[in-house]
Amino acid sequence: MTKFKRIGVLTSGGDAPGMNAAIRAVVRAGLSNNINISGVIRGYDGLVNGVFRDMTSRKVSNIIHRGGTILKSARSEAFRTKEGRYQSYRNLIEEGIEALVVIGGDGTFTGARIFGEEYDFPIVGIPGTIDNDLFGTDMTIGFDTAINTVVEAVDKIRDTASSHERLFFVEVMGRDAGFIALRTGIATGAEAIFIPEVQTELSEFESYLFNGSNQKKSSNIVLVAEGDESGGAFKLADQVKEKFPQYDMRVTILGHVQRGGSPSAYDRYIASRLGVAAVEALMDSQRSIMVGLKHKEIDHIPFAQTIKHHKEADKTLMELLKILNF
Ligand code: F6P
Repeated sequence: MTKFKRIGVLTSGGDAPGMNAAIRAVVRAGLSNNINISGVIRGYDGLVNGVFRDMTSRKVSNIIHRGGTILKSARSEAFRTKEGRYQSYRNLIEEGIEALVVIGGDGTFTGARIFGEEYDFPIVGIPGTIDNDLFGTDMTIGFDTAINTVVEAVDKIRDTASSHERLFFVEVMGRDAGFIALRTGIATGAEAIFIPEVQTELSEFESYLFNGSNQKKSSNIVLVAEGDESGGAFKLADQVKEKFPQYDMRVTILGHVQRGGSPSAYDRYIASRLGVAAVEALMDSQRSIMVGLKHKEIDHIPFAQTIKHHKEADKTLMELLKILNF
């Protein structure tokens, strides 16, 4: 058991709906254990520059339902340098912060791991990214809200696609991973899904299209993860257009709307659980770990593992899609 007087909390990398709910949980778990909490503003940049806010319980009132992060987020270049991390350590000591909770993704935990080792500093991570691409947790905070946003948008696209009998290529986020595209492709009844984890088989899709037109489908929707090797929805559409000029095609890039909005009930729920679990893990003398969810239960995964391993996409879902499109 470790007794802390003050813990810092920060959000880093791409923001995700539910981060505020996690901040709220960290603050209230800390305060209820007589630990003061400092919010670090703008992620690791806030550490380097020493920008801290004392977090009272009231400062996190009325934020559980708000998207974004009240602590702001950034991808810090300065923290990548030894000098930046040294400055961060000095600032933490001066502020009286004895441990950190960092909310973010892969890059956030990589920084945390290096800093934790360099300065023997206790850090616990909370998985927050809409991409759901972190090894060691079934879900990341923000993924559920993002996929619901995508489903709502694609349903609307389906309406207009049907009216005009068009083929739509819809690009969703996922620079390195296809979790959003896979899940929403199934949920929206998409005709095809393209993700970075599976080699782009355009010929398969083309033969599907050929049959599809024979069946006189009124609309076709293709979900493309931005990180797909084809280079994204526009490039894929160009390739298909060459072979199927008869199709009336359109491209929609959903972009950053996927990162905003009020978090879903599920994201608020897991953020609240993981926030409390992170503080409890620190009190339990754990360090350099991420708190995650495994089969709905809290799990502790060393940063080293979550950074090193690649979370596998469920490729059987591609087969499922074919059945559902029969
Ligand atoms: O949060 C992860 C992510 O949404 C990726 O899927 C995407 O490529 C990236 O963030 C874009 O983030 P930004 O525009 O903030 O650099």
